[in-house]
Amino acid sequence: MRSSIALIGFMGAGKTAVGKVLARKLGKEFIEMDSLIEQKAGKTIPEIFNEAGEIRFRELEIEVTKEVAGKKHVVIACGGGVVLNKINIDRLRQEAIIVYLKAPPQVILKRVAKDENERPLLGEDQARRIKELLSFRKPFYERAADTTIDTSKLDIDSVAEQIIEEVKDNESPN
Ligand code: S3P
Repeated sequence: MRSSIALIGFMGAGKTAVGKVLARKLGKEFIEMDSLIEQKAGKTIPEIFNEAGEIRFRELEIEVTKEVAGKKHVVIACGGGVVLNKINIDRLRQEAIIVYLKAPPQVILKRVAKDENERPLLGEDQARRIKELLSFRKPFYERAADTTIDTSKLDIDSVAEQIIEEVKDNESPN
């Protein structure tokens, strides 16, 4: 039986906000992968992207995923691009049920528009980049997901409750 939950989905889907609430409700430890990457690099995510590039960021992401993947009884908020390397999902799935938090481009745009500097991948034309990246990544998210929750019309607490409902009788889907 898998005892952990990994939240995947695009930037702004609510992985961190939902993850914190979910971990508290379930009495599990909350882990944020982006923070671990920043700690490991001694730099912020935008600094890593600007100074070392996306490929270096993805290497760090693979290392951190490997470190957290075996942990039991944790809720992991993954970075939005974790699905791009299949090895990450294979590792996470050993101990975690993978929950895809889904939201349409216009909802994502509203949620990320505020923190422009924090999202190095979105550049200046955020609306266009979100659409492009989302359509490219859609199959990756769908293939990785054990279960999917549409977060566009739900508040944080309701998403967490829905995840609890989904995983309750279903600790080992797929
Ligand atoms: C990324 C998402 C970010 C962060 C990095 C790359 C992506 O995480 O890992 O900027 O490729 O989608 P959040 O989804 O937590 O914003």
